[in-house]
Amino acid sequence: MKVLVIGPGGREHALVRSLRDDPFVTEVHAAPGNAGIARDVPVHAINAQDPAAVVALARDLGSSLVVVGPEAPLAAGVADALQQAGIPVFGPTRAAAQLEASKAFAKEIMAVAGVPTAMARVATDAAEAADALDAFGAPYVVKDDGLAAGKGVVVTQDRDAALAHAEECFAAGGSVVIEEFLDGPEVSLFVISDGHHAVPLAPAQDFKRIFDGDEGPNTGGMGAYSPLQWLPAGFVEDVMDRVAMPTITAMADRGTPFTGVLYCGLALTRRGIRVIEFNARFGDPETQAVLARLQTPLGSLLLAAANGTLDAVEPLTWRSETAVGVVLASARYPDSPVTGDVITGLDEAAALEGVSVLHAGTAVDDAGATVSAGGRVLAVVGLGEDLVAARERAYAGVGKIGLAGGQYRTDIALRASQGRIAVELEEN
Ligand code: AMP
Ligand code: GLY
Repeated sequence: MKVLVIGPGGREHALVRSLRDDPFVTEVHAAPGNAGIARDVPVHAINAQDPAAVVALARDLGSSLVVVGPEAPLAAGVADALQQAGIPVFGPTRAAAQLEASKAFAKEIMAVAGVPTAMARVATDAAEAADALDAFGAPYVVKDDGLAAGKGVVVTQDRDAALAHAEECFAAGGSVVIEEFLDGPEVSLFVISDGHHAVPLAPAQDFKRIFDGDEGPNTGGMGAYSPLQWLPAGFVEDVMDRVAMPTITAMADRGTPFTGVLYCGLALTRRGIRVIEFNARFGDPETQAVLARLQTPLGSLLLAAANGTLDAVEPLTWRSETAVGVVLASARYPDSPVTGDVITGLDEAAALEGVSVLHAGTAVDDAGATVSAGGRVLAVVGLGEDLVAARERAYAGVGKIGLAGGQYRTDIALRASQGRIAVELEEN
């Protein structure tokens, strides 16, 4: 089987690596990829948001499966075009990707499907926003109702800051969703769906804020680990029964079946599981940690999802080790990342036992050096027998890498490794 991976980031590098390790996959290509992906497989410089360009490339390469990584090509209809061309595609149609592209749409589907989520109101002007903020009280949660790569959300105690974010979204011609605040640890669960059947991957936890101790602004994600030893027994089954399957069924019932990854962003509140958000794709950097442990050949799994035969797939198998991924980001990320700086030590880091280096925003400059080319530059993944060992390996890898002004968090998976994450459930 020949597979084409669409996207430029760390998630796509992880997908490429896992696909390359699949004995049933004969060739992996990527478009547009990045400097790290280009070291592993052939890359093709096309506009990945242009459905016709992706179809043409897949035809040229004779791809038997196209895996779409990011949300933007999905929202642009890349999966629709591939489907129409008769090319198996892993990733939802534009209509199904609305689950991520519009937070208001996601809330509607959750209401129809009876999926537990935060109470929310849509606001289209300052007066409505102020009303909603006062109805729910602090901490305030204000979300841009459009694609913002995880950066359109403001969570704050400051009512003026909450209102200012809403006004910015209105000024840009958008609307906002204002929500009740969900307390409790967050979990990302990736559910592979063929439109009707679904298979969960292992849960992961992401670290959204830029600074240690969950301080500073939200980012796309600064690190992740998997699995989560502190989850209550039956957690994944509960999410499948109460969140994923009702959502997948509701999407099929309205004639827009969801094929691809239903990324369930969840909070474990005192009152039980609540959906924070859905995404229509793999998460980044959770994918880098989750796929490091997956033993089942990835290509066959994604092809079964694309072909509607997930119900015939054997149960997934996983390595017993724990994976921790630490993101190295550019100076001044997430506001105005500095790019073009030389990255050193990549091979030294990757040569360490249990360490892999996955590229995100990297490029090769005219002199042939690998340089930073985006906000998040790399993820260094450590695989170890427990969280303590996996963290040590990941941070040993980060320690080998040089990037001027590079930023990373030193506390990825720290609290979990110390047994300090507790889930308290209220009896109700
Ligand atoms: P989203 O783009 O919806 O995933 O939001 C980004 C991040 O904002 C989430 O991962 C949470 O950390 C935080 N967040 C979003 N919604 C809520 C909420 N209702 N309560 C608490 N935190 C939230
Ligand atoms: N890690 C969060 C995301 O992929 O949206």
